[in-house]
Parts: sequence; structure tokens; C-alpha cells
Amino acid sequence: MTTLGEIQARESRHVLQTYKRQPIAFVRGSGSRLFDVDGKEYLDMVSGIGVASLGHAHPGLAAAIAEQASTLLHTSNLYFHPFQAEAAMRLSHLSGLPRAFFCNSGAEAVEACLKFARRFWYTQGAPRAAFVAVSNGFSGRTFGALSVTHDEHYREPFQPLIGPVTFVDFDKPETLAAAVTTKTAAIIAEPIQGEGGVRPMPQAFADAIAEACRKTGALYIADEVQSGLGRTGRAFHFQTLGLSPDLVSVGKALGAGVPIGAALVSEKVAETISAGDHGTTYGGNLLSARAAAFFLAQLTDGGLLEHVRATGTHFERRLRALALRHPMIVEVRGAGLMWGLQLRADATPIVDGARERGLLVNRTVTSVVRMLPALTVETADLDRAVDVLDAVFASVADSARSEVHA
Ligand SMILES: Cc1ncc(COP(=O)(O)O)c(C=O)c1O
Repeated sequence: MTTLGEIQARESRHVLQTYKRQPIAFVRGSGSRLFDVDGKEYLDMVSGIGVASLGHAHPGLAAAIAEQASTLLHTSNLYFHPFQAEAAMRLSHLSGLPRAFFCNSGAEAVEACLKFARRFWYTQGAPRAAFVAVSNGFSGRTFGALSVTHDEHYREPFQPLIGPVTFVDFDKPETLAAAVTTKTAAIIAEPIQGEGGVRPMPQAFADAIAEACRKTGALYIADEVQSGLGRTGRAFHFQTLGLSPDLVSVGKALGAGVPIGAALVSEKVAETISAGDHGTTYGGNLLSARAAAFFLAQLTDGGLLEHVRATGTHFERRLRALALRHPMIVEVRGAGLMWGLQLRADATPIVDGARERGLLVNRTVTSVVRMLPALTVETADLDRAVDVLDAVFASVADSARSEVHA
């Protein structure tokens, strides 16, 4: 068996160094458990950044994709197969948007939404190029998606990006009216910002989006790559906010671990798209579309939404109680099974301390501990995660105190 050290040495020579990885190599999983090369067990509250939505090695999903792998994997979008229509039909029932375009990632889903928005206005005979996006928003790293992503650190080396793009603060909904004009093709906003620190869109901002779209005709793109598909206990978080997007980007949870994304499209926008306007060789092939159809069936017919609501309410209660015990936690934000603990300081010691105790949580925007467990997670595992965090916060606070007294 290869050791962690050997893998790290090989990667450092041959893999482009775009990721800062945690020092663990996983070889096996089961439900909310992961096992590393040395056989050490971890409780997983990250689920591959919200991707392993049914947990690891889900027997039904494993059987479906194994059967598909030994039957037919890929034929391209030159031909029909049964699973795109099935996944699209389920997505349509869940979202209220009648059509889906399948791609391979979240960024590609966003990319498709941006293109479809411009295509819509081109067809009206009054092209609009501009987008309005949100401060702290993250929509991916391809050129279009990066253009509506806020963080300068990601953007700066790749200028010029696609524009014009104006960024507006979630906390200043009154500024949206000035930013959105009759030149705006679309507003793009995550109903709950994920990478930006698990920040739910305030209701006043959602209302301002609806009003700006009504006044100017601008389309609304809900980027639900992280918050969508049951993560918050509803099919989509835009539903909780009472929004009616023209386009929705989804990814992550959709394939439950098999790469697939989708742009969900309203009839009004779909009518303006013609053959050849967009496409991708892999998008929605038999393997990924079958995985998506399986996941969506679990979501709609398998009682998963009810499970997320019940476990999510319990998790929230436990996290809020945790925050009361540890002054290092200044805010608990999220919904369903998407939570962030806003800390006073860098979250690294908490993430490292948790990992050493066999718990995986993730740091985002320096000072936020993020948790995106599998949608199938059991209450006992959430309890265990909070108990471990309790011990980690206590020990980090203890070391900070002894440093002060030393
Ligand atoms: C809201 C949102 N949109 C888009 C993306 C990009 O998705 P991907 O990394 O699959 O390209 C992400 C990834 O974190 C995301 O959180």
C-alpha cells in the first residue's frame, strides 16, 4: 500500500500545485465515515464540499453506476439515451423551471447561465452585456464564472475578465436599484453564499432582486451550486426566499460524487436558445445522468428532504448551544445541513484540532468553520461532531490562555 508520504512526494513533482491539501489520503468511505491509507477512521462533515450528498459508497448508487459502467458509459450528445430526460424531468418538478442543460461542473453551469442570459437579450434585438453580482460571492474559476466571483485574489492575475460586472453588498439592498439598469443582462447571486463564508441572502436583498428585475427586465440567475438540491431542507433555497429565478445553476450534490452540473432554464429564456448555441462532449452522459437521476429520485421519493429538515433543526440547535459555550464563535449561520461558525480569529487551529481527533470540517474565508455533511447523515453523527468541536474549542482556548500567561 502506498503511504501518505509517497503520495505527497509524487504529487509535489507531477501534479500542478493549485491546491493546498490537508495531510491525509483517503482510500475508502462508508456513509459519513472516511478511512485513510493507514486505516484511520474520520467522521466527515465536509462530504467532498457538499458533493457526496448520499454519503460515501451508497449501496443503491454504487449498484446503479456499476450496472451502467458495465452496460454503456458514453455516446456523446449526438444521440439520445434515457437518463438525461429522466434527470431533467425531476429537476423541473423540483425547481419549477421546465428545461435543463447538462454539463460537468458548477462553474460550467454558471458559464451556461451567463451565456443563456446574454443570448436571451440578443434574441430580443436589444443586446445586454452587463451583470450584477454580490460582494463575497463565488461562482467558480472559468472566465465567465470568475468574472462574477468577487475575491480579488482569484481575479487579479487573470484580468481582463468578462464584463461589465458590478458588485453589490448583501447588507446594502438599497444599492441594488442603482446597480441594475436596462443594460443589465442578469443579476447573479447565491441564495446562501458558500465559499464566501456561509452567508444567507437577507430577505431584504431577495426582495430588492425581485423589484430590480421587475423594473428593468434583468434576469435573475440563482447560483444554487452549493445551497441547492436539498442542502437547506428545501429543494432550492431561492424557494425559501420567495424568488423566481429565470436561470438556476446546480452542481455538487447532483451526481452524488459523479461529476455533473446543470443550468435550469425558464421557458422564456429556453425559447431563445437554438441548436449549437452551447454544448459539451461529456455533458449528461449515461454515467453521470444516471447518477443524477438516482440522486434526484432519493431526494423526491426517498424522504431525503424531510430527513435534512429534521437533522438540520437538531444540528442548528446543537451548534447554537456550542456557540454559547465558546466566546471564540461570534455567529452561527446557515440552514438545513449547511452551516458556518464565524470565529473571532483564523479557523485553522479548529480545523487541525478536529482532524487530529478524527473529525473533518473545513475552513472558508479564513475565519469560518464550514460544515456540509452528507444529506443522509445520522443525528448521532451530528451529535458526535458537535461533541468533538466542543473539546477542540476548549483546548484551543486553553492553549491561547496559557500563551498569554507564559
Ligand atoms: C455557489 C458556487 N457556484 C459555483 C461553484 C463552482 O463549482 P465547481 O467547483 O464545480 O466548478 C461553486 C464551487 O464551490 C460554488 O460554491
